Amino acid sequence: MSIHFNEQKKIFKLDSKGVSYILQVYKENCLAHLYFGAYIPDDNLTDFAERHVYASFSPQPDTQPPYTFSPDTCPMEIGCNGGADLRIASVQIRNADGNACTDFRYVSHKIVSGKPALPGLPALYANTDDECETLEITMRDEYTGAEAVLLYTVFEKQAAITRSMIIKNTSDKPFVIERAMSFCMDMNGCDYDLISLYGRHVQEREYMRRPLAHGTQGIGSRRGSSSHSQNPFIALISAGGDEDHGDAYGFNLVYSSNFKAEIEVDYNNSARVTMGINYDDFGWNLAPGEAFYTPEAVLVFSNEGLGGMSRAFHRLYNNNLVRGEWKHRQRPLLVNNWEGTGMDFDGDKLFAIAKWAKETGIEMFVMDDGWFGKRNDDTSSLGDWHVNEAKLKGSIGDLVARIKGLGLKFGIWYEPEMISPDSDLYRAHPDWAIHVPGRKKSVGRQQYVIDMTRADVRDYLFNVMSEVLAHNDIDYLKWDFNRNISEAGSALLPPERQKEFYHRYILGTYELMDRITKAYPHLLMEGCSGGGGRFDPGILYYSPQIWCSDNTEALSRVDIQFGTSLCYPASTQGAHVSASSRASYETKRNVAMWGSFGYELDPAKISEEAREEIRHQIADYHKYYDLIHYGDLYRLVCPWEDPYNCAWMFVDEKKTQALATYLIKFKKERRNLFLRLKGLDPEKYYRLEETGEVYSGALLMNAGLCLWTMPNEDGYSKTFYFTEV
Ligand code: GLA
Repeated sequence: MSIHFNEQKKIFKLDSKGVSYILQVYKENCLAHLYFGAYIPDDNLTDFAERHVYASFSPQPDTQPPYTFSPDTCPMEIGCNGGADLRIASVQIRNADGNACTDFRYVSHKIVSGKPALPGLPALYANTDDECETLEITMRDEYTGAEAVLLYTVFEKQAAITRSMIIKNTSDKPFVIERAMSFCMDMNGCDYDLISLYGRHVQEREYMRRPLAHGTQGIGSRRGSSSHSQNPFIALISAGGDEDHGDAYGFNLVYSSNFKAEIEVDYNNSARVTMGINYDDFGWNLAPGEAFYTPEAVLVFSNEGLGGMSRAFHRLYNNNLVRGEWKHRQRPLLVNNWEGTGMDFDGDKLFAIAKWAKETGIEMFVMDDGWFGKRNDDTSSLGDWHVNEAKLKGSIGDLVARIKGLGLKFGIWYEPEMISPDSDLYRAHPDWAIHVPGRKKSVGRQQYVIDMTRADVRDYLFNVMSEVLAHNDIDYLKWDFNRNISEAGSALLPPERQKEFYHRYILGTYELMDRITKAYPHLLMEGCSGGGGRFDPGILYYSPQIWCSDNTEALSRVDIQFGTSLCYPASTQGAHVSASSRASYETKRNVAMWGSFGYELDPAKISEEAREEIRHQIADYHKYYDLIHYGDLYRLVCPWEDPYNCAWMFVDEKKTQALATYLIKFKKERRNLFLRLKGLDPEKYYRLEETGEVYSGALLMNAGLCLWTMPNEDGYSKTFYFTEV
């Protein structure tokens, strides 16, 4: 049992691997947060709910002294709006009488085994019912009849807890949800640094660290997608903490649209953390009897710094987020034609790439953008998902048969959520483009976004995609999304529901992804959005990998992979060797191997020498696959600590093998000559494959590898493979 309820103290204790999360039904039936951190065996924390250091300006329910309690100074599990808790709210409901005052109090709870699904939303799942337990706490606002059900799932073998909330209208009047964050938690203290991942196209998930300050701080997206700009992930680490030390809390939202993560540090030096759907430009009408489900937030803790936190996320996502046949199967090594040919190809050119791929040992050919409508550049045809037979010199069936005849798998690119102004689809259905009536629609990459809130649009897309997918033996689908949403509005939604647009949009997208994955369960899906503009756990629920970035320049791409790895496992990052990268093929390979590896080039445009090198790289992909996809990652030298060099390594679960990579991005005269490894067993001995030398784990981790003989050159990289002797 991982969830315990102490009836007498009214304390809930949730224990997952090495982690405890403790809350209490406190005064006035408020739900107080007591603790989240390293596992503790007992629950003697009753003092923790009292924080009335100075409460004169914090409203109290007591009408006469002694004033014993104010919700404003109590660490809460839900932040109600309009009452006596004056910190940032996690829930705000506009009642039928016009005010936005809601005060949720504990009513009841139940503990169930397993993890209930969240209708219409991606979420982590239990492989077996005994893997998880879920606590459901029902809170009620007596005045309006609104109910909030707080869901906590404990993954017994993972250092993680998930949280989400259901708002129910149990009254006889409608109301509008104006804010419904997935969780709220008031931490014990505020001496933390906030880490977030910001970026842009070709420079995703850059590391940003800043100390928490009094007041409200946070990140978010209003782009209709989780976005390149900010990833729906934050970490809080003890001030002074690093890769290996300090309490590290990770928060990640399983959601692919507008989100917000906020932290308010109050006058009691407590940090309130909330995360959920971005409440800017959001509203949801809830009729009597209806329920609204928030997306899920994942909370991870490690007292072994950021490295421990990342490894906890990686294990969790490999085990309880990624689904389907490709979860455990080795994914085919692919070549994609995008960087090699752009849209300038025909059936023969594609076949030539595929033929080379087969001869080289590559297992799948992926046909990227430009195979449909009359698309030869990015000005047209999105939405016209009919094969351009003149360009392919035959039907899609002919091309698939030709390429499969070589013994390769076949993959295809789609961008289902888009519609080009120059397309037959737009001419037939101008209302299908997202728009606000009377306003000019902005374009992005010369395209509009299609209205995924509409069932007729989703049906069209499912059917038109099925014309290709149902009749051809297709193994892989790259699902792209190449602009953000502006002038957000749907022709079908009534005025009072336009505020529901963004959330309905992503629910519609999830529904279509769900239909496609159910109808074509063998398909390996790869998410994409101008590279990694929608790299989030929501998308990972449908596609076990996401194209990490359009930046394939190995020496800067590696920074993106470091940032991405804070939260997401290597198995989820699509990473390719491209001809456009100026690094050596060895370095390109070493960087791309930190992910779902592939190639992105036209062999006709590279030298015979380069082709020969690639031929030698293939075996390593298979050799290291399990170690990289399912092993533990240790970041040894991070770009945010050293702009010149970086290093990382993977160690398998049993600590019997390890692969370390060292990369000199830009040489400097006084470089580090000793690379201390991590994660090995100090008692074991390991043989370095290249030299046959044997070292103890203790030596490698304490003295390190001596890099003295390694050339000091820009872009030089080297791998070190160890096996236990
Ligand atoms: C996006 C993707 C690329 C490629 C192009 C095609 O930019 O990230 O990999 O598929 O679209 O237009």
